[in-house]
Amino acid sequence: MYKIAVAGTGYVGLVAGVCFAEVGHQVTCVDIDESKVELMKSGVSPIYEENLEELMRKNYAVGRINYTTDYQVAYKDADAIFIGVGTPEQPDGSANLSYIATVARQIAESVEKDCLVVVKSTVPVGTNDKVEQFIQDFLVHDVRVEVASNPEFLAQGSAVHDTLHAERIVIGTESKWAEEVLMGIYEPFHLPIVSVNRRSAEMIKYASNDFLALKISYMNDIANLCELVGADIQDVARGMSFDARIGSKFLNAGIGFGGSCFPKDTKALEYIAKQQGYELKTVKAAIDVNKEQKTMLYKKASKRLITFSGLKVAVLGLTFKPGTDDLREAASLENVPLLLEQGADIYAYDPVGANNFAKVHPEGKHGRGSITYVSNVEQALEGANVCFIFTEWGEVKAITPEAYEKLMMTPLVYDGRNIYSVQEMEEAGVEYHSIGRKQSNRGQGKGQKHHELQTIGL
Ligand code: UDX
Repeated sequence: MYKIAVAGTGYVGLVAGVCFAEVGHQVTCVDIDESKVELMKSGVSPIYEENLEELMRKNYAVGRINYTTDYQVAYKDADAIFIGVGTPEQPDGSANLSYIATVARQIAESVEKDCLVVVKSTVPVGTNDKVEQFIQDFLVHDVRVEVASNPEFLAQGSAVHDTLHAERIVIGTESKWAEEVLMGIYEPFHLPIVSVNRRSAEMIKYASNDFLALKISYMNDIANLCELVGADIQDVARGMSFDARIGSKFLNAGIGFGGSCFPKDTKALEYIAKQQGYELKTVKAAIDVNKEQKTMLYKKASKRLITFSGLKVAVLGLTFKPGTDDLREAASLENVPLLLEQGADIYAYDPVGANNFAKVHPEGKHGRGSITYVSNVEQALEGANVCFIFTEWGEVKAITPEAYEKLMMTPLVYDGRNIYSVQEMEEAGVEYHSIGRKQSNRGQGKGQKHHELQTIGL
């Protein structure tokens, strides 16, 4: 059992802390925000993650996890301090390391016994060397402090599961002692451990995330070509997926990748390369394709409709993916302002992300357009002229093709997540546009609303 302190209680820090407690370690999570600390003590998680609150309460009740703003008390006799604070993207694409620097300084001033500092946050290659030097420079007591890299690969929405059942743990150390401490901490997880040097560990994180981003952008690129040549991206992906060298995951074409990692980490690695005088062409391509892809459906719809002014537009899903309330880099954030600018009256539905979205786009009039938040899919679709699907929530997938035809005034659907079969939408009488597949033609279905599409000039 190790005495562990965790700096930062965001997705990375809090989930790591809770999972360390769950396998038996003694954990103290540190955050500067007093109200957040009180909230967590009462068993409430500041983020939405499956099973997280349950494990927070269970481990708090048995005294294996605690929360504090007092970093000195948490750090002074810890065996290991994990840093999980944010490294937000700066305008030039580089990572902002000021939160890491603040924590490093606090550690240097607080530790009173030998301690391993473990950087979990995603940081540019070479940062851990600098953090170690920084801590040594400011160290108050005569103790051994080393820095190790331990990048995090969890996905939002399945963070607890991903941590407890990770496919691999990557540790980057520069001494036998550091390696042994980290091996010991991860021993109760019984997971494969990849032990490398610090710089390789830092690079594994970027290389993995950017490879996945590239995979998605590649499929989106191919999807756009599929549309032009009459192929179907889902069939193409299925055919590719049987090749074990390609694999079956992350082949879903759509409206591009969002979230807190892929957009940030692709830009960060491109920036790192540029600093070395090297152009990372593949990653640049992933970024460029993604930028175009996010508004692909809007562009299609704009060509089709001439104007959105006076149209009721249903927007289904606002978050960057299902299972999270996170909106960072979500396609909705790019498309909704465009629709509002064009005078659309938007009726938006998201099971958990609507409150966050309303902070950016409050309910009511926005220039010529307006936005209203509704509490179920049916309310959004009722009387709508156009529907955009941005997130594949279960609640959205549960809606049948017939329901679109029945509820919408004019059943015209732009699906950014390829939820439906083109044929079934066509049979239901819905004009259906998706990504990398043929469009279903209106007028061929058994639905009754085609004349209405025509009467409003559609
Ligand atoms: C990702 C990585 O999966 C994780 O390992 C890393 O630690 C952090 O970044 P996350 O951002 O939570 O996790 O979500 P993920 O499920 O990977 O999805 C990212 C984006 O890619 C979403 O917008 C999703 O919709 C999109 N995506 C994913 C696709 O468009 N197609 C796919 O096939 C898969």
